[in-house]
Amino acid sequence: MNLPTLIRSEARLLLPTYERQPVFFTRGRGVYLWDAKGKRYLDFLSGIGVNALGYRHPAIQATLKRQAARLIHVSNLFFHEFQAELAQRLTRISGLDRAFFCNSGTEAWEGALKLARALARAENNNGHKAKWRILALENSFHGRTFGSLATTGQAKYRHPFAPLVPGVDFVAFNIWTICSATLIPASARFAWRLFRAKVAFAQ
Ligand SMILES: Cc1ncc(COP(=O)(O)O)c(C=O)c1O
Repeated sequence: MNLPTLIRSEARLLLPTYERQPVFFTRGRGVYLWDAKGKRYLDFLSGIGVNALGYRHPAIQATLKRQAARLIHVSNLFFHEFQAELAQRLTRISGLDRAFFCNSGTEAWEGALKLARALARAENNNGHKAKWRILALENSFHGRTFGSLATTGQAKYRHPFAPLVPGVDFVAFNIWTICSATLIPASARFAWRLFRAKVAFAQ
């Protein structure tokens, strides 16, 4: 397989949702990747921060081989030997109480949004007037499902798929006075304009 063949196949078979760099990696070791022509790259991306495990680590290889020979996946209708152990490690590292396993970043974000809604509803004794608005950051990106898109602070991702989940306000990063003002929607836009004007003036 070579790069031009791959480019042609993907163009014919995949939905064109991603523009790729014209590089075709065939192997990796440690922090390095090699393309099909044998050129070596230092990997500063590590899958955009996902699976930042390096490449071909002997411990990972051994674990995968051992488990592949026993049992890779059963549905979540059953217990799995390692889920609780992994959850224990994650809770220890994060300092949080429980883990929620899912398949992608966008699903993790959906889980967080739903958890926030569920908590607000529970605190309001399951009433219908529970707080439900979500505050998100300008220029953010959270993934490609509807909740994640609704809270992604970049119009180019949101607009093609509107209408999205309602009730999202966007604020600038790291400006907590505006964040709290925005939680009161009536005053938010006014406060935001005021703040913007001040920034412009200061600049
Ligand atoms: C900052 C950020 N959040 C969330 C996501 C969504 O993750 P996933 O593609 O695993 O759904 C991405 C993906 O690029 C991301 O960069």
